[in-house]
Amino acid sequence: MSSTNAKTLIFWSAMLVSLTILLCLASTLSAYYSSPEGLERVSGSSHYTPSIYLGVENESTDTGPNSTPCATTTEINAEIPPLIDPNLLNKTDDASAAVPTVNLFVPIATTRPSSLFARILHPLHPLGISDSVISNSTIPTNNFYTNMFVGDRDQPANLYPYMVWWNQGVGGDYGLAISHTTKSQRAYGPNPEANPVEYYLNPIGIRSISFSAVEFDASMTMSLTSPSAFSINVIMSPSTSKYGSSRSLLIPLVQGTGFISGNYYNLQPQFNSIVGFKSLTARSSPRSGVRKYVADLYDGTSWGIYATVPSGQTFSLSLSSSSTIKASARVNNVLVQIAEIVNEGALDNHAGMYATSATVFGIATGSQGTYTIDYLSSGSNNAGSLLLFALPHHVTSFYSSMSSRALGFTMDSQTKGTMSAYSTSQLVMVETIPTEIKFAPWTSVPGKSANYTSRAIGLISKAAILEVMQDFDAQTNLDSVYFSGKALDKFAMICYVAHFILKDSTITATCLTKLKASFSRFARNSQIYPLKYDNTYKGIVSGIALSTGNSLDDFGNTYYNDHHFQYGYHIHAAAVIGYIDSDLGGTWVANNKEYVNTLVRDVANPSVIDIYFPFSRSFSWFHGHSWAKGLFESGDGKDEESSSEDYNHAYAIKLWGQVVGDASMEARGAMMLAIMKRAMNSYMLMNNTNTIQPPNFIRNKVSGILFENKVDHTTYFGTQIQFIQGIHMIPITPVSSYIRSPGFVQQEWTSLLSSVAPTLTDGWKGILYANLALYDPSSSYKFFTSSSFQNAYLDGGASLTWYLAYAAGVGGTTS
Ligand SMILES: *[C@@H]1O[C@H](CO)[C@@H](O)[C@H](O)[C@H]1NC(C)=O
Ligand SMILES: *[C@@H]1O[C@H](CO)[C@@H](O)[C@H](O)[C@H]1NC(C)=O
Ligand SMILES: *[C@@H]1O[C@H](CO)[C@@H](O)[C@H](O)[C@H]1NC(C)=O
Ligand SMILES: *[C@@H]1O[C@H](CO)[C@@H](O)[C@H](O)[C@H]1NC(C)=O
Ligand SMILES: *[C@@H]1O[C@H](CO)[C@@H](O)[C@H](O)[C@H]1NC(C)=O
Repeated sequence: MSSTNAKTLIFWSAMLVSLTILLCLASTLSAYYSSPEGLERVSGSSHYTPSIYLGVENESTDTGPNSTPCATTTEINAEIPPLIDPNLLNKTDDASAAVPTVNLFVPIATTRPSSLFARILHPLHPLGISDSVISNSTIPTNNFYTNMFVGDRDQPANLYPYMVWWNQGVGGDYGLAISHTTKSQRAYGPNPEANPVEYYLNPIGIRSISFSAVEFDASMTMSLTSPSAFSINVIMSPSTSKYGSSRSLLIPLVQGTGFISGNYYNLQPQFNSIVGFKSLTARSSPRSGVRKYVADLYDGTSWGIYATVPSGQTFSLSLSSSSTIKASARVNNVLVQIAEIVNEGALDNHAGMYATSATVFGIATGSQGTYTIDYLSSGSNNAGSLLLFALPHHVTSFYSSMSSRALGFTMDSQTKGTMSAYSTSQLVMVETIPTEIKFAPWTSVPGKSANYTSRAIGLISKAAILEVMQDFDAQTNLDSVYFSGKALDKFAMICYVAHFILKDSTITATCLTKLKASFSRFARNSQIYPLKYDNTYKGIVSGIALSTGNSLDDFGNTYYNDHHFQYGYHIHAAAVIGYIDSDLGGTWVANNKEYVNTLVRDVANPSVIDIYFPFSRSFSWFHGHSWAKGLFESGDGKDEESSSEDYNHAYAIKLWGQVVGDASMEARGAMMLAIMKRAMNSYMLMNNTNTIQPPNFIRNKVSGILFENKVDHTTYFGTQIQFIQGIHMIPITPVSSYIRSPGFVQQEWTSLLSSVAPTLTDGWKGILYANLALYDPSSSYKFFTSSSFQNAYLDGGASLTWYLAYAAGVGGTTS
């Protein structure tokens, strides 16, 4: 469902302003100007890897990041072998193995998307990204750093556990601000005494400390290079007209890192705080070449500042006011690392090495899978590996050897509970992946299985005969990718039931013929708003906003909102059509493979080798679920409303992989499902024993909208309880019961829905009763077979045929 619509956007902005501390108000009001020329002047290759010099440097010969060589991380980390050998991937060559091992990240295709999709440049030009970087990279649209290239560019990038943003003059400071908030700082509302509260959020704008330079002022610029799945490089430069082009501060932002690390080139470092520095103390160096300072702030926090200084250079800090720490002189190639002090010894041990980017790799052998977030680094430190913070869903699935890397301390995250510190350059997770869940109804309710009694077959058949008479074209030929997808998928499920459950060739033939015709309008790209290929960010977008000028049309598809929800329905429908058609000996899959694969590549490209789409646009392999928000500025960061339409897209990818014979895609979809099950049941679907979300929030049972920095039990389209809970249910499919456990569904039904469901008269009623089958199939079946059932209880994406077949297929029949 929608990630954004006009009315609620205004609502959210108002809420943001009212709840954000006054300091941030100042930031939104401050005038900021940066010329496009200024931004363009700092160019960078997307393949640039930041590094530091370890030897003596001749300052005048170095001209900034573009001239620095790339350090190779393998040399630096040689003493700590990886936990998982990437060469394991080569096992996938052994096709003769009884249970083959598959590489989860094999490119789907590397070909240019079909010319069926007209080429466009996106109307929203990314700010601070040079033309050569745009040409030579894929720019992720749903990652943590969108705020750095849209709008005023001063809203946060949530790295977890830190957040950072470009401070453009608030408090007289210019640079990259750093904040870390704890659970004790959260605001609950609107009535903080309520249980459950409707929302909680963390304050933004608390600039504990910032990376700045004496040379930075209102004419400074910030440019971005190497946009990738887990990281981006920020390059801050002073006015080139005053200082030339050889001065810069390069900060690679990488998710989960324990330090924020910046390399100063020909600048005089300065560090500012809106909280205020009470004192600055030089402490003994933890390592040759590393200078250490501790800044104590007026809010009681202490921050470590570690500088790796090439020999021959002077680096000395002093407090020049309660808000400013200044270096005594201009420096070059000095690495400065900043972290809040929770465990000073751990910071001492890890200072000197910093993460530059990360990649993910993974394999699966049957239902056993593993995935690894592999950090690249530069520099060296006493520990021999990076200081990283892992999320709760990482920790509960860690490979056993990870425990030896645990440091035994934690930091609070924004909205995902407590993060745990590890000394490691890899996060290695293992999962049992749901290979057995395919097209047929599936349940995790103990002791339940399909029982298609003759009465059930009769009732399903009656529903199917009526529903295949609906006007498929009228319901699918829409101006919305979302609503057309829901309708295509509804008809696909009816065809599935007709062929595989009713085994009725007449109904199947009618259904499949009509559905193929409706689907082909999309495969030919001749629908009302044909899809376009966007050469700016690299993606397939609806043409709707290009025609209407409204970025929020079709829930913001043109601006990259919700692609996984929307294309997920189309991909799922394709998988079902292909599965039936193949069973009937047809060639539909081969004929439609390129088109459907293009949709999969747009939402979930698994490889940087495929240069036509960003890696995994929607699903965050770090957060364990997708983010729905695309190219929109947002004070509380990325967000996602519908957990169920998110896992529906992973399920669709798994099934399409099966149908098209792409074992890597099939296993990858299953791995995404396993990760989502864990992550969603930690952060979005909260049963009574949840210890990750606040105790005064978990009675909401679902997150509502989960933001990077806020959780709000509401929706973008209304506040009725059936909307808020129901948008985390649709569509009900075989995989629903895998994610939504019977215990959770029962708790949610009993506490929030059982009294509401009987009073409803629209499509939400059907959704709630279909969901009831996830713990009580008999009551669900009874509802859909009752004589008082009305078609008005069916949502546009739902059919009685499927709801009956599902309830019967998970053991709901009583006669
Ligand atoms: C640094 O480089 C400049 C310009 O190339 C040169 O004149 C100078 O001798 C160098 N200094 C050192 C210490 O190598
Ligand atoms: C695995 O394959 C890669 C690429 O084909 C190759 O570079 C590497 O040497 C192989 N590793 C082993 C252990 O065979
Ligand atoms: C892509 O990058 C290369 C190397 O940095 C550069 O030479 C080329 O001009 C870039 N392409 C475009 C179209 O800017
Ligand atoms: C509650 O959720 C946790 C975490 O997903 C799970 O381990 C536990 O089994 C669940 N309990 C019930 C009653 O569903
Ligand atoms: C299916 O349901 C019928 C009617 O309730 C019952 O008699 C039969 O035993 C059930 N079959 C199975 C396999 O559960």
